[in-house]
This record gives sequence, C-alpha cells and structure tokens, in this order.
Amino acid sequence: MNTMLVTDPKINVEKNGFLNVEIDPELDLFAEIERLKKEKNAIILAHYYQEPDIQDVADYIGDSLGLAQKAEKTNADIIVFAGVHFMAETAKILNPTKKVVIPDLKAGCSLSDSCPPPLFEQFKQKHPDYLVISYINCSAGIKALSDIICTSSNTQKIVESLPKDQKIIFAPDKNLGAYINKVTGRNMVLWNGACMVHEIFSVEKITKLKLRHPDAKVIAHPECEDPVLQLADFIGSTTQLLKYTEKDSSQEYIVATETGILHQMIKSNPHKTFIPAPPDNSCACNDCPHMKRNTLEKIYLCMEYEMPEILMDEELRLAAKKPIDRMLELSAQFGLI
Ligand code: 13P
Ligand code: SF4
Repeated sequence: MNTMLVTDPKINVEKNGFLNVEIDPELDLFAEIERLKKEKNAIILAHYYQEPDIQDVADYIGDSLGLAQKAEKTNADIIVFAGVHFMAETAKILNPTKKVVIPDLKAGCSLSDSCPPPLFEQFKQKHPDYLVISYINCSAGIKALSDIICTSSNTQKIVESLPKDQKIIFAPDKNLGAYINKVTGRNMVLWNGACMVHEIFSVEKITKLKLRHPDAKVIAHPECEDPVLQLADFIGSTTQLLKYTEKDSSQEYIVATETGILHQMIKSNPHKTFIPAPPDNSCACNDCPHMKRNTLEKIYLCMEYEMPEILMDEELRLAAKKPIDRMLELSAQFGLI
C-alpha cells in the first residue's frame, strides 16, 4: 500500500468526510487508478464540472441524465462517483447491489440543500392536487416525495408530455422552473431554490464581453437567472452545451455555466475559443466549491479503501427510485439515451 494510515479508515472518514491520508508524492496516481480499476472491476463516472485530471481518468463523463443512465446499466462491481452527493446517491438508488463510493462525502450541492424534506412536505400539503416534478439535484428524501424526477436535458419534454391543465409543483430550482414555465406557457408553482454557481453571472459584464467579441455566441445552462438566459443564443444541459459547440459553426463562445465543462469543449474543438462568462465579483465563483472538493488523490484513496461509501435505508431507496424510473422511462420514449 502506498499510503500512511495512522487511524482506522472508518474513523478517519467520519471525522473528515473523506480519507485524510498522506500519499507518497512520487506515486503515479494515473497508473495506480488504472490498476485499481482492473483489480476491483471499478468504473469511474465523472460529471463535466470535475477538474480536468479527474475527467481524464474517468470511464464516462456526462450530464446528470447520462450519469444516471450509465450508473443503472453498469456491470462494474464498484461505481466511483466523481461528482456530488445527490449524483452518487442516485447511482446507489438505481443500482443497489453495487458498491458506490464518492471521493468526498461533503461534496454537496447548494440547490439540493435549499430544499429540506420536512419543509417541502409542508409545501406539498398546501397544494394537495398538484403533481410534483423535482430536478435531480435534490436529496433522496425529496425524490421520495416526488412523482417524476427530471434533469436539465429532459425537463421541457417531461412537462410538455403532461396534460396542459395538470397542476404542477416544480422543485427545487426556481430558475430552471421559471425558464420551463416561459418556454412551455405553464404556470408551475416553484420552490424557491437556486444554484450558487449559476446565480452569480453578471449581465452587465457578459454584455460588455459581447461587445468586445461580437462574433461570440453566448451559451447558458438553464440554472442561470432569466436576465442571463435572455442573452443566450443556446440554452441546455452540460452535454447539450458541449454538443452544440461541436455542431455549431461559430468560432467563439461565452460559456455561462461551471468552468469544468470547458475542458471537454476545448478537447472536442481545439481551434475554437471558449470564454467563461464573468461572475458578478472578482472571485472564481463559477467554480462549484462542492464539485471541486474532489481531487485525483481522493479518487485514488476512495478506490484503494472503498470508502466513503453511499449507504441507504431500503425503504427510502425504493420510494426515491419510483420517480427516477418514471424519468428514465420517459427519457427512453423521447429518445434521450
Ligand atoms: P447537468 O450536467 O445535468 O446539466 O447539471 C448541471 C449541474 O449543475 C449539476 O450539478
Ligand atoms: Fe449544485 Fe450548482 Fe454545484 Fe451543480 S453547480 S452541484 S447545482 S451547487
């Protein structure tokens, strides 16, 4: 073993949320991770917001829908989830016989945190005859209180598949909900949650940037606020944004989402220019602090020790699985595979 572990690994994880262990600095982490993948029949699923090194060791990189579909179908014994907690939890809900490990248990999500199940239950009780559609960025507790789960790549299609007079609660992202209300003409009741990364883009700075780069197209994630979306030439999930840059003929893009996606955009389009949309202040706020808790070292450690592991109460898992299954069935019907 290439690490110096002085405490019991379980106690270490309980204390830190991850394995806080010294690694030999000369260790070739890329080679070690490949070795562990083979030895343990493990697969690494990574979201586009992960740092470039993690994306480069991943077996699959995708948006939330793609990751859920991959997690459900994999034959690997261990799913290493390089993303945030709700994503790893979704993998466990869909594929419970697999061991699901996450590099850092504290990799949460501001959007998911904005919607605690007890408060949401009260909100639901105030709207008794409403159908609940929840964005996948929520806890298993919220999923269990929902009728259908959706992601940024299928929300519009899911909403449009329902009768026009269907009363709907949409949680937890008010920006995605407002955008879908706008494009579908619905009047869904929105939970007041938002993503800390997508709310900070500056309309003023993007407008100025556009003046300096008149040929650049603005592409935005639907978790952004309406004034930013109004500036966008294209709106979509991370995978949809990436595919757009591959098919579109423009040479320059202003990208209003987390900066991690730029790694794949540049890889797929080496001759194009990608400019991260500027946030309201001077910090690097369009880096998600939760996604960026994961590091290559933590990936290696969670594979070596097979922890932190996602464990779930079976009753909760089954209740949370129903609305995810509904989403996966509908996505297959829409050809979103
Ligand atoms: P998608 O990759 O599904 O578009 O989601 C973006 C996001 O914010 C994930 O946390
Ligand atoms: Fe959550 Fe936003 Fe980070 Fe995605 S980018 S994990 S929605 S805080």
